[in-house]
Amino acid sequence: MFAQRKFIALRSSLIALALLLTPCFTALPQQQTRQTRPVKRATQKNAADWWKHAVYYEIYPRSFYDLNGDGIGDLNGITTKLDYLQDLGVDAIWITPFYPSPQIDFGYDVSDYENVDPQFGTLADFDRLVTEAHKRNIKVICDLVLNHTSDQHKYFVESRSSRNNPKSDWYIWRDSGPGGGPPNNWLSIFGGSAWTFDKTRGQYYYHFFYAAQPDINWRNPDAARAIFDSVRFWLRRGVDGFRVDAIDHVFEDPNLRDNPTTGRTRADGTAEQEDRYTSRVAENHEVFRRLREVVDEFKGRVIMGETGAPPAALVAYYGRKGAEFHLPFNFSLMNQRKLDAAAFRSAVGEIERELGTRPVNYVLSNHDRPRSYDTFGDGVHDDQIAKLLITMLLTLRGVPFFYYGEEIGMKTSTPERIEDVQDPVGKVFWPKDKGRDGERTPMQWTSGRNAGFSSAEKTWLPVPPTAQTRNVETMSKDPNSILNFYKQAMRLRRASPALLDGDYTAIGDDPHVYAYRRRTPSHTMIVALNMSNEPRTLRLSANDLGGEGKRLRMAISNLGHDRQQTVDARHVTLGPYEAAAFAVTEKGLR
Ligand code: GLC
Ligand code: CA
Repeated sequence: MFAQRKFIALRSSLIALALLLTPCFTALPQQQTRQTRPVKRATQKNAADWWKHAVYYEIYPRSFYDLNGDGIGDLNGITTKLDYLQDLGVDAIWITPFYPSPQIDFGYDVSDYENVDPQFGTLADFDRLVTEAHKRNIKVICDLVLNHTSDQHKYFVESRSSRNNPKSDWYIWRDSGPGGGPPNNWLSIFGGSAWTFDKTRGQYYYHFFYAAQPDINWRNPDAARAIFDSVRFWLRRGVDGFRVDAIDHVFEDPNLRDNPTTGRTRADGTAEQEDRYTSRVAENHEVFRRLREVVDEFKGRVIMGETGAPPAALVAYYGRKGAEFHLPFNFSLMNQRKLDAAAFRSAVGEIERELGTRPVNYVLSNHDRPRSYDTFGDGVHDDQIAKLLITMLLTLRGVPFFYYGEEIGMKTSTPERIEDVQDPVGKVFWPKDKGRDGERTPMQWTSGRNAGFSSAEKTWLPVPPTAQTRNVETMSKDPNSILNFYKQAMRLRRASPALLDGDYTAIGDDPHVYAYRRRTPSHTMIVALNMSNEPRTLRLSANDLGGEGKRLRMAISNLGHDRQQTVDARHVTLGPYEAAAFAVTEKGLR
């Protein structure tokens, strides 16, 4: 899928941007001390529409909290930390795959769609997690990997056993190409050819990802039915929706046309290609519509799709009359390479233009990309910039997706030696691409051993030394921490009709300040983000404010400025990297 392609491309100078176009426990450890009052949740007029205002928080279960002390996070660990998440103001958690898996791609290689990997717990643990989350008004979104299974899945084991077994057509099997090689030139995004030869069948099978992740043949109705039944399995257990993995790769060209090459070389030495016939095939939408129908058999459930489609192509994923994804992921901000006011204004402008009134979402970090803290930090004002980014995500029109640890400014900690790499991406593409371990390190809870993540001797990925100061316990006590700022910004969002429901208008064209207005008929907020290291002054006109003779009341500032002060809209001064939001008051200017 494109997103995957994108992260590899961004990490490797050799891969060109052009390509991108195309259960049960009794003792719970002590909870964190609450330093701030809990964030109140927005009430939704129509309960089924909860997802439109939600703030989402992605959890990589291996790395969130290890309750049983084996060095790997688990479901009971997540349940233990639900009070923390509630205190943060999170409305929904998306948990990346915890199903049985050989863990070749750390859970994205599923070997049983209807169970929990013993590493993570049991189905009873999962049920308890859902029940406890719901008690706290937190929705639970699961990951749905429908493009491929693990090669250890019983479907594939059967499929590869002969050419004429009942599931022989559940995967994409083809005879050798001329000369005995692969059927065509298609490449796996995880290195090498996308075809692997199977001796028993004497045929090749297709895998967009690793050879251990064979693609399901969605043209086979029985295979499709089996996956949809597994979707119902989780919906019946009460999950609130799915983040659907790698949706661009469901179908491939039935004629197996070769992908055009770009003339460049990939980090593994193969000739780079445009994934024209292996990505975003029109038939995919039929599967999206059917998936939506299955999800709509249950009330108030939601699907979000992982697509790397550019803004202009994103509309199609909502489907005609909104019959496909509730929220196709919008990675246009995560795709920015540096903090640049003009670039952010233009990226959001494009999304607003393309999506119209459709629900929008914004993401800056996930388990496949280096953390936003590193991408956008300048090495000096990093914490302040982290607060600026939080302000932006919580004040743009639409819903934000946060990645665990973003609220404490976790850094990307990339392995330095290939022997330490866990992610096969890093092993295959080393040293050009050191893989995704850096953004998957254990959540930092305390300044204690293993950052309070685990009591194990060794955690599955090392806890970086920055955890000494950068952890939930320490940051809760510091009123100026990223964590407390995050909660403050969250409260602002909850309390502001303009931020929750207002329209969006960019203000001005300052090359350093990205400013915008959010407005409902009765409320207006102005957000100003100084993306530069120099003080700037914003001179707002009546037009910018959406009316004559107004003053601004400061609602939040990452520089800790007095929040009740009022300022003259014609002369708004911003410090270096200041992020501020103001309510437009109805009082006159003088
Ligand atoms: C998605 C996941 C990524 C995984 C890939 C294959 O992009 O986000 O982590 O490796 O799909 O399932
Ligand atoms: Ca564990």
